[in-house]
Amino acid sequence: MGIFSQPTVPPLQDALTFAGKCAIVTGASSGLGLAAALHLAQRNVSTLILAVRTQKAGETTKSILLADPVVQKQTIKTTILIYELDLARPSSVAAFASKVVTEVPQLNILLLNAGMGSLEWRVTPETNTEEVFQINYLSNAILSVRLLPLLRATAQSSGEKSWLSIVGSRMIPLHSFTKYPVPDTTSLFAFLNDRAHFRGMARYSDTKLLVSMWVHELAKHTDASVVAVNNVCPGMVRTNIQANQPWWVKGLVGIIQGIRGRTPEVGARTLINAVSGAGPETHGELLGDFTIWENTFLGTEQGKKMETKLWEETLAAIESSAPGSVEEAKLKN
Ligand SMILES: NC(=O)c1ccc[n+]([C@@H]2O[C@H](COP(=O)([O-])OP(=O)(O)OC[C@H]3O[C@@H](n4cnc5c(N)ncnc54)[C@H](OP(=O)(O)O)[C@@H]3O)[C@@H](O)[C@H]2O)c1
Repeated sequence: MGIFSQPTVPPLQDALTFAGKCAIVTGASSGLGLAAALHLAQRNVSTLILAVRTQKAGETTKSILLADPVVQKQTIKTTILIYELDLARPSSVAAFASKVVTEVPQLNILLLNAGMGSLEWRVTPETNTEEVFQINYLSNAILSVRLLPLLRATAQSSGEKSWLSIVGSRMIPLHSFTKYPVPDTTSLFAFLNDRAHFRGMARYSDTKLLVSMWVHELAKHTDASVVAVNNVCPGMVRTNIQANQPWWVKGLVGIIQGIRGRTPEVGARTLINAVSGAGPETHGELLGDFTIWENTFLGTEQGKKMETKLWEETLAAIESSAPGSVEEAKLKN
């Protein structure tokens, strides 16, 4: 990948259709999520669930989708539903998951796209969890466990595999764990929620590394022919992702994005590939655009130990917040 440019991303294939399918896109209110939602709607997805922070944001997103000329020309209309989801609040994540499980009869695609970055230490209101960790990692892990049974059941009833993709990042190598390893005797969650160990510049990459480990481990417990599980990085894309950053980061990243950033429409093609075209070899892997990007840290002794610890602590946290959900998702060892 060059400093001033990124490889060209081919358009989606003309024949690609999501007719008859139901998809959830988190963070559908802007950037990559909005662009991915539009791709799905343009390609006749039957039901599109916009998982957004507020009803108002959902209504705005829905109007944008319905105003699109391609969407307007469709003879069979997409049903667009708005479900509220705030990844910073575990009660909202739990309510969202319960609503989906109760109200949605089939789920073919779960695109966990929402995410954020922040250099500042902030904790979530309900659980005092460090915010970036909760939003980018923990809430996505919870959703993947809570909705896995529905994805599996849909694959069984439709005879076609379902898809679960979490949006990640190739900024992983900027993580802090090589320089500041988590001691063997320390809980990983406790470490990440301890302000003394918070390294703002690395926290985004730290959480995207955790996502990559989670997907890697989750895939070992999921049959790729039933639910394909992956993690995808869309490259650098011109979005609002820097909104929480100080002015100098926004300015610097804005300049770089202006030079080499993809438009959300182009970047989102990689997300659509991750939930429709990615091959079985990508199960559990991080796709850099369309091909496997090797996360070398996962192969190290430290990485392997951390992945096991992460898996165990995450399942324990999910089980305590939603008893029975781990077993229901068939994730018990
Ligand atoms: N842009 C890039 O260059 C790039 C590169 C690699 C990976 N990514 C990843 O791509 C994903 C999408 O980001 P983007 O670039 O499209 O940025 P964006 O325009 O800022 O979109 C982020 C989305 O996440 C939602 N979100 C943030 N916090 C949330 C919360 N607490 N609960 C629910 N939703 C929340 C936002 O909702 P609101 O509208 O309510 O704020 C928004 O819809 C992220 O996971 C990001 O890490 C981006």
